[in-house]
Amino acid sequence: MKLNIAVLQGDGIGPEVTAQAVKVLKAVAMEFNHIFTFQKALVGASAIDKTGNPLPEETISICKKADAVLFGAIGDTKYDEDPDAKIRPEQGLLGIRKELGLYTNIRPIIAYEDLLNKSSLKVKQIKDTNILIYRELTGGIYFGDRYLSDDGNIASDVCKYERFEIERIAHLAFKAALSRKRKLTLVDKANVLESSRLWRRVVKEIAPQYPNVKVNFMYIDNAAMELIIHPRQFDVILTENMFGDILSEEASVIVGSIGLLASASIGDKHAMFEPIHGAYAKAANRGVANPIASILSAAMLLDHFGLYEEAALVREGVDKSLKLHITTPDLNNKYDNITTTKVGDFIEDFIQNPDETNLNFTNIHIGQSTII
Ligand code: IPM
Ligand code: MG
Repeated sequence: MKLNIAVLQGDGIGPEVTAQAVKVLKAVAMEFNHIFTFQKALVGASAIDKTGNPLPEETISICKKADAVLFGAIGDTKYDEDPDAKIRPEQGLLGIRKELGLYTNIRPIIAYEDLLNKSSLKVKQIKDTNILIYRELTGGIYFGDRYLSDDGNIASDVCKYERFEIERIAHLAFKAALSRKRKLTLVDKANVLESSRLWRRVVKEIAPQYPNVKVNFMYIDNAAMELIIHPRQFDVILTENMFGDILSEEASVIVGSIGLLASASIGDKHAMFEPIHGAYAKAANRGVANPIASILSAAMLLDHFGLYEEAALVREGVDKSLKLHITTPDLNNKYDNITTTKVGDFIEDFIQNPDETNLNFTNIHIGQSTII
C-alpha cells in the first residue's frame, strides 16, 4: 500500500516522540513491502516562532493532500502563563481538527497486565479494564462563540451542538460497541445543560437501530468517580468535546502513564493520529519522553487503513518493551538509562526480528544485545 503521511511534530516532546513513530512506520513499510512517504509541516508554538501563525496555510494544504496525519504535541509554557496572548499554539491543533473535519476522537484505555502495579489505583480495581472513549472533537464549548467584555471583566464560551454533530459520532460509537462488549455509556450533564439534553434525546432516538447494544446514561461528575472506582463497567463511552478531554486524561491513571495513551481523530475525508498527552516542554530533548503513545497512534493509523497484521505487530513490540522494562523513566524504576530513542529502536528492531527470543535484560540495558 502507498501512503502519504503528513507529520506535524509540533512542540516540546512532540518531535522526539513522533520521530520514533515514524521510525516504526518505516520498519513496517520495509517488512511488509509498503511505500510510506512522510512530509513534515509546521504547527503550534514552533510554527508561531517561524511564521507568526500556529497553523500556516501550507500545513493545511499538506494535511489535506495527505492520506493521514501523524501529530506530535502542542503547547508552550510561555503561552500557558499569559492569558492575554491573542495567538496561541493550541489554535493550531484545534484549527487542523476543524479544517480536516475530524469530528470523532477515539481514545482506547487499556490496563496492560505488565503495568498494573504502575497505576496509583489498586490492581484488583483496574485489572482487565478495556474502554474506548468516543470524544466529539469539532464542536461544543471548544468551538462556540467566545466573548470578553471591553473592560475585561466578563467572559463567556458557548457550548453549542447541532443534532447532526451528535448523530454522526453516535452511530460510530454504537458500531464500535457492536464489535466489543455491546455496551455504550453516554456521559453528559443532562440534569443541568440544554446541550446535554439534546445529546441524550438524540442517542435515545438512535438506540433502537442498535438493539444489541445496551445503552446507559451517566452524569459527568458521577462518571469521573465511577471511572476510577469501577472502570470495568465501561465498554464504549460516548461524550462531548470537553467532557471527553477531561475524562480521557483522568483515565490515564488507570493505564499507569499518560505517555501510553494514543488516539485516532476521524472525519469523513481525513484522519489524524495523535497521542493524548501534551508538549511537556520541561522534558523536551532530555530523552525521557515516552514515545509509546505516539507509536500506538501509528498502530491506529495502520488499523485505519486495514493493515491489521502490521498494527498487531507494532502492538506486540510495545507489549514486549513493557514486559522487558525497555521503557522511559515514567514507567521504569528498574533502569534509568532507557531513552526515548532506545524505546523506538527496540520496537523497530522487534518489527524487523519478531522471532528473536533470546532477549536479555542486562544486554539490552547496556546496549549489547543483538537486537539493540
Ligand atoms: C487533547 C489536548 C488538547 C485538547 C489541547 C492541547 C488543545 O488536551 O488533545 O486532549 O484539549 O483537545
Ligand atoms: Mg487533553
